[in-house]
Amino acid sequence: MSTDDEDPDVARDFPEPPPLSSHGPARIIAMCNQKGGVGKTTTTINLGAALAQYGRKVLLVDFDPQGAASAGLGVNAHELDATIYTELMRARPDIREIIVETAVPGLDLAPANIDLSAAEVQLVNEVAREQVLARVLRTVADDYDVILIDCQPSLGLLTVNALTAAHGVIIPLETEFFALRGVALLIETIDKVRDRLNPRLQTDGILATMYDSRTLHSREVLARVREAFGATVFSTVIGRTVKFPDASVATESILTYAPNHAGAYAYKKLARELVARGAAA
Ligand SMILES: Nc1ncnc2c1ncn2[C@@H]1O[C@H](COP(=O)(O)OP(=O)(O)O)[C@@H](O)[C@H]1O
Ligand SMILES: [Mg+2]
Repeated sequence: MSTDDEDPDVARDFPEPPPLSSHGPARIIAMCNQKGGVGKTTTTINLGAALAQYGRKVLLVDFDPQGAASAGLGVNAHELDATIYTELMRARPDIREIIVETAVPGLDLAPANIDLSAAEVQLVNEVAREQVLARVLRTVADDYDVILIDCQPSLGLLTVNALTAAHGVIIPLETEFFALRGVALLIETIDKVRDRLNPRLQTDGILATMYDSRTLHSREVLARVREAFGATVFSTVIGRTVKFPDASVATESILTYAPNHAGAYAYKKLARELVARGAAA
């Protein structure tokens, strides 16, 4: 954390979010990048846990057939018959029937498993096939303050459904040499969805993840990302630390696994920044 001082943006902080006296309607945020391994699932889990610690009611929607968000929170989704997939396929969905509570108070989960991989094909012949998830989420929008959708690494129909259901999108970027590759295509997809399907869709921010302040390389990539995307880049940066994979193995968020670690502070800071940006209640 000490070298963070070198980056004035990183050194900024944000006020504690004021307590909420009532809950809902939810602001829906999709975590998107068609590249795998950039920190989508880690950000969904830990940002969700941080917002819950600030008293927000949060629903995580696992929207990746790999089910990493479910597994990371200790939910064994492989054994479940009822998942987000079954809700997508129902004529009258009620997502409450599949939502499970997690060990973090205020943080609920709509789990996914490999069944979801069939949805991409099955939805193709649906009427309003891009709006199926939005319809499913409408059933609980009033019960939550924030709904976070953990997208799969693709720009296919499932991700388009997530973008169509969302108010905002967060783009995690690994602070590595090829980070910017593919971002233009992602932004083009977001623009198309906004134009054709979901005029309210905003880019809430680009999040630099796996940042290693000790390497010149990381600092250069971060500078390049800030140059290219300006204020869209969160001033919060997530450092690279083995505590994140460790926490997933322990099926916990880093906020409970290592509450005093810089990684836990970083996701709490991201939650504060998101609220300060008006992108969460
Ligand atoms: N800041 C970080 N530092 C170190 N490892 C990380 C960090 N964020 C995520 N990871 C690890 O990198 C891998 C990929 O992260 P993940 O969140 O699953 O990416 P995605 O969902 O984009 O595929 C996981 O093993 C995860 O634990
Ligand atoms: Mg993932």
